Amino acid sequence: ATQRLQADPEGLARGAGILRSGGLLAFPTETVYGLGGDACNDRAVARIYEAKGRPSFNPLIVHLADLDAVKALVVWSDLAEAAAAAFWPGPLTMVLPLRESAKVSKLVTAGLDSLAVRMPANPVARALLAEFGGPVAAPSANRSGRISPTRAEHVLDTLDGRIEGVLDGGRCDVGLESTILGLAGKPTLLRPGRIGIDALSQVLGRPVMERKDREQISAPGQLSSHYAPRARVRLNAAEWQEGEARLGFGQTEGDCDLNLSPSGDLVEAAANLFEYLHRLDADGAETIAVMPVPHVGLGIAINDRLSRAAAPRD
Ligand code: TXA
Ligand code: MG
Repeated sequence: ATQRLQADPEGLARGAGILRSGGLLAFPTETVYGLGGDACNDRAVARIYEAKGRPSFNPLIVHLADLDAVKALVVWSDLAEAAAAAFWPGPLTMVLPLRESAKVSKLVTAGLDSLAVRMPANPVARALLAEFGGPVAAPSANRSGRISPTRAEHVLDTLDGRIEGVLDGGRCDVGLESTILGLAGKPTLLRPGRIGIDALSQVLGRPVMERKDREQISAPGQLSSHYAPRARVRLNAAEWQEGEARLGFGQTEGDCDLNLSPSGDLVEAAANLFEYLHRLDADGAETIAVMPVPHVGLGIAINDRLSRAAAPRD
């Protein structure tokens, strides 16, 4: 069952221990409760998607305690500095170019070359992040499609038994997910929240575009900028063809170049997915052939990503 931890020194130490051992810990922020996992641990991040029951891998927000830690992960800029000075710690997330040296799991960014970072103001969140000492990936702590939790009880309503712990910090003040400001390109409001577009424009000294002005989103919740390998992707490969890079799953007849999970474990496969696509792509293959992945549980999210990677491009 899920441990319910008090927001005292002992609870914080146990919560940080859960994160350190690759476990999942829900914790309060000023916006909503987050479902946290070690952002550098592929398996922990894969388990976040599994616990949420998300049918696809949306990139996740990484939570950090201080600016130096943020700057180690993303390419900082004057605009980021201005927004951070005005709104951090607080309910603002910034999407910035990912540093090549950043050690975060590729599953956190869903393979994109930008990263969403946020420095929460909630004192329990800050104490936990300081105690853990590393980046924590955290979407809202609810099953997919359910409303976002603003109390520890809400978290347990849908995630009891699916996560190792919940740190009880009482009620969240804002109750609505953070504003997301895209700064990887022109300043763009990617998600509205407590901090409004006018306040952002004023602080940045330039207009912030609304996302809908710039690009049509083809389906709700779908990002238009998806990681796609350079190579063509061939799905449900029953046998290998000459010259293809071979991405296996489960038991394979012959050799494959990489296997998402030789034992057929979907959490392991999800944890390896983007990493392996990148690696095979970097090897220069023209086509990456992928064995079928069962369409159940996390397999649905894996297949969602694979079919996007295989979709025709212009
Ligand atoms: O208030 C919040 O932000 C809460 C609390 C727990 O901090 N967290 C939260 O995380 O809402 P999450 O993972 O549900 O929000 C992720 C959203 C994605 O759906 C996407 O819209 C955006 O953040 N996002 C993340 N990384 C991105 C990236 N590299 N480029 C564009 N958008 C990104
Ligand atoms: Mg959510």
